[in-house]
Amino acid sequence: MRSKVTVVGAGNVGATAVQRIHQLGYADTVLVDVVEDLPQGKALDMLESGPVIGSDANVIGSNDYEATAGSDVVVITAGIARRPGMSRDDLLITNMNITTAVTQQVVKYSPDCIILAVTNPLDAMCQNIFEASGFPRSRVLGMAGVLDTARFRTFIAQELDVSVEDVQAYVLGGHGDDMVPLVRYTTVGGIPISEMMSAETVEALVQRTRQGGGEIVALLKAGSAYYAPSASITQMVEAILLDKKRILPGCAYLEGEFGINGLCVGVPVKVGAGGMEQVIEIKLTNEEQAALNASAASVQELVDVMRRARADGA
Ligand code: APR
Repeated sequence: MRSKVTVVGAGNVGATAVQRIHQLGYADTVLVDVVEDLPQGKALDMLESGPVIGSDANVIGSNDYEATAGSDVVVITAGIARRPGMSRDDLLITNMNITTAVTQQVVKYSPDCIILAVTNPLDAMCQNIFEASGFPRSRVLGMAGVLDTARFRTFIAQELDVSVEDVQAYVLGGHGDDMVPLVRYTTVGGIPISEMMSAETVEALVQRTRQGGGEIVALLKAGSAYYAPSASITQMVEAILLDKKRILPGCAYLEGEFGINGLCVGVPVKVGAGGMEQVIEIKLTNEEQAALNASAASVQELVDVMRRARADGA
């Protein structure tokens, strides 16, 4: 029997993720959206690509959650996307309400699923979805680090004229302008990046990575990035469905690791059939720990804003 993956939000990120997962061929997918007929239309179009791409998997679209019942993995992309001049944080309360409602439906129909949070602002939404789900922390994780490192790896590969496959990198902290690329753990063919380029060049690439989402928004004008985000979603979904136990940067609810308690932030995690199977704790320098703490503090601010809004009945 094929695995079952639901993607909520049939916009650019969600629909492209379903297209990529369908292409893998071993998971049936369900695309859900509030807009009438939109997920049905996109799903049928994708299903009809099956004979050409060689995928026998099923794709269906739906406006309700009955069709999602018994999903193994549910990806939540529902929300509104950033427009030029808008920060991820501007989206906070609208997307909090959307992801809360979505999570309640997801949990009702797929009580054993693993949820992958994608809606921005990512870390705050991951926290909201984790709390709304009542799931153990292993079954709620967020996708941001794979995307941020993909951007960093792309820029490094371009700069050095080497294969993107040979560039390994990590980022810690929130998916925002204060994300913490771990330069010390960034390697090219196993060689530390510091041996390959000057500190100034590394810093320039780090800076471009931090603003990587904004760079795309400014170019697209209407909407935000979706090709690299959907590829990153697919890599995490595949790690779960195939129990690959990959070590990837992911957003996880920390319980004291890295000195952070009760907050979702980006850290290296092991991703397998159990979802977020382990937080991989690495020793940080004082400077890295300080940067991580600062990044976590910005996530905490958003979580506090959400708590207050909830208390005020937003
Ligand atoms: N339930 C289901 N779908 C919803 C709901 C809801 N309650 N509210 C909104 N949606 C749908 C919208 O109808 C839309 O089709 O979510 C979709 C979002 O799609 P886009 O606007 O195209 O946004 P996209 O680029 O896909 O980004 C989605 O991912 O990367 C993040 O910042 C991005 O938070 C954004 C999310």
